[in-house]
Amino acid sequence: MRIDIITVLPEMLKSSLNCSILKRAQEKDLVEIHVHNLRNYSLDKHRRVDDYPFGGQAGMVLQCEPIDRAITALKLQRDYDEVIYTSPDGETFSQPLANRLSLCENLIILCGHYKGIDYRIREHLITKEISIGDYVLTGGELAAAVMADAIVRLIPGAIGDEQSALSDSFQDNLLAPPVYTRPSDYKGWKVPDILLSGHEANIRDWELQQSMERTQLLRPDLLE
Ligand code: ADE
Repeated sequence: MRIDIITVLPEMLKSSLNCSILKRAQEKDLVEIHVHNLRNYSLDKHRRVDDYPFGGQAGMVLQCEPIDRAITALKLQRDYDEVIYTSPDGETFSQPLANRLSLCENLIILCGHYKGIDYRIREHLITKEISIGDYVLTGGELAAAVMADAIVRLIPGAIGDEQSALSDSFQDNLLAPPVYTRPSDYKGWKVPDILLSGHEANIRDWELQQSMERTQLLRPDLLE
């Protein structure tokens, strides 16, 4: 899989994409993640990529030309399954959407910024708009990092234990059961006896029971 991220703030993405599981997945050649500075596609001598909006509202808008040039340059090299724009207007990101996107070969993620991007890009080049939640971020970089993380960890081999991506919270519409590690008694705070019992089947039953109870209590909407 290959993910190309287009942004005016490449430095904001680099650290989150080069740590932990995302770093390991790239080292194992399971995914290539390329971050492109939109300013490199500006024809302006000051590398400007934004301008005032027609109509006189406050804020700046990312211009068509650099975005078109960046996306066109990438599309000349390969076919893309989706050209995603990060925006609070988009479909809310979710585990099913992450699952679907993890099956793609090539993705472009365009990070929004300032007041937004010239609407003509959204009409002509963007195939999918995604929001990571009903709140407004300064830009789409954190949204792109969240999406890349959730997508890449689903690629087979990206996380050590293949089983664990499947047993994540949300994968089966259930929250994950509580987990514990040593010591079994910390300041009198005890690990449930069942987990120390060694009875594999009883433990799995207990975990499922816990998952269902926690989902009912904390996220009853997932059970509907
Ligand atoms: N850009 C600004 N806010 C956003 C959000 N909630 N999701 C995705 N991109 C955004």
